[in-house]
Amino acid sequence: MLNNAIFGLLRILVIMATTPEKIICKPFLRWAGGKRWLLKDIENYLPRNGFNQYHEPFIGGGAVFFHLHQSESISFISDLNQELIETYCCIKYDVEAVIKELKQFKNTKEEYYKIRSSNYRKDFKKAARFIYLNQTSFNGIYRVNLKGEYNVPYGYRDNYEFDFDNIVAVSKVLQNTRINYSDFDTVTKNVKQNDLVFLDPPYTVTHNNNGFIQYNQKIFSLEDQYRLSRTIQEIKELGAYYILTNAAHETIKDIFNSNDRLFEVKRSSMVGGKYAKRGKYAEIIITNTIR
Ligand SMILES: C[S@@+](CC[C@H](N)C(=O)[O-])C[C@H]1O[C@@H](n2cnc3c(N)ncnc32)[C@H](O)[C@@H]1O
Repeated sequence: MLNNAIFGLLRILVIMATTPEKIICKPFLRWAGGKRWLLKDIENYLPRNGFNQYHEPFIGGGAVFFHLHQSESISFISDLNQELIETYCCIKYDVEAVIKELKQFKNTKEEYYKIRSSNYRKDFKKAARFIYLNQTSFNGIYRVNLKGEYNVPYGYRDNYEFDFDNIVAVSKVLQNTRINYSDFDTVTKNVKQNDLVFLDPPYTVTHNNNGFIQYNQKIFSLEDQYRLSRTIQEIKELGAYYILTNAAHETIKDIFNSNDRLFEVKRSSMVGGKYAKRGKYAEIIITNTIR
């Protein structure tokens, strides 16, 4: 009896000593459709017995990834925004250079427009520019014109300060993360049994008016939503868990129709920034996790 207790205690001590400590960090970007609001309830949707590897194929600002990443296993993140993915890669491989560059940028209107019109060649400069514009622009929305040039105006965030410690922590988390510039449907290449895939696509339709949400460079079409439902089917066939967020709209509910758990969540929309039209939007969360 005593031997068992001692053995159990020793086992816990060995696990504690060999499990790397979880690095605490948060998104380093503002991102339209970001899922920070979901974090307080995320436990309700996670698999009861945990999961192996984590995958997020619409990473954006990565609110859920930075919350859930596990130091003891690899994560996979990807997105179809190339500048975004290059920035993640640069923070992974060259964080000191990015920070050094970022420290030279001043948060003034003149500097903002100078940097906005610059066309840097070096990767660390491009990454610093991306982070700088994201943090000091009007609302952090990623919007480019037809020539692919970022065209969001200056944000007058006078007291804003870059959180360099957080960017260093992000870099540490990314050491254990595979980063890919790719369409979401490639996610299944790496998914294995008991993995968790969090899917947060751009919303094709809004709940109230059936209108298109405008924050994406390319609209995520209804056909993309059908493709996504097929990807989810593949994830399930691989024996993995998924959590999908989407607009609470009848068309969307029909496309992802299954016997999986469906939750409707109401919240205030922040899309469009301080002065944009706001309202209560309903979103859905669908998952095959068991609690
Ligand atoms: C709603 S945002 C994700 C926000 C993220 N969950 C967060 O917390 O910041 C959707 C993301 O999907 C990306 N995206 C759009 N179409 C895509 C596609 N076909 N494959 C992969 N990513 C795509 C966009 O670039 C955008 O970053």
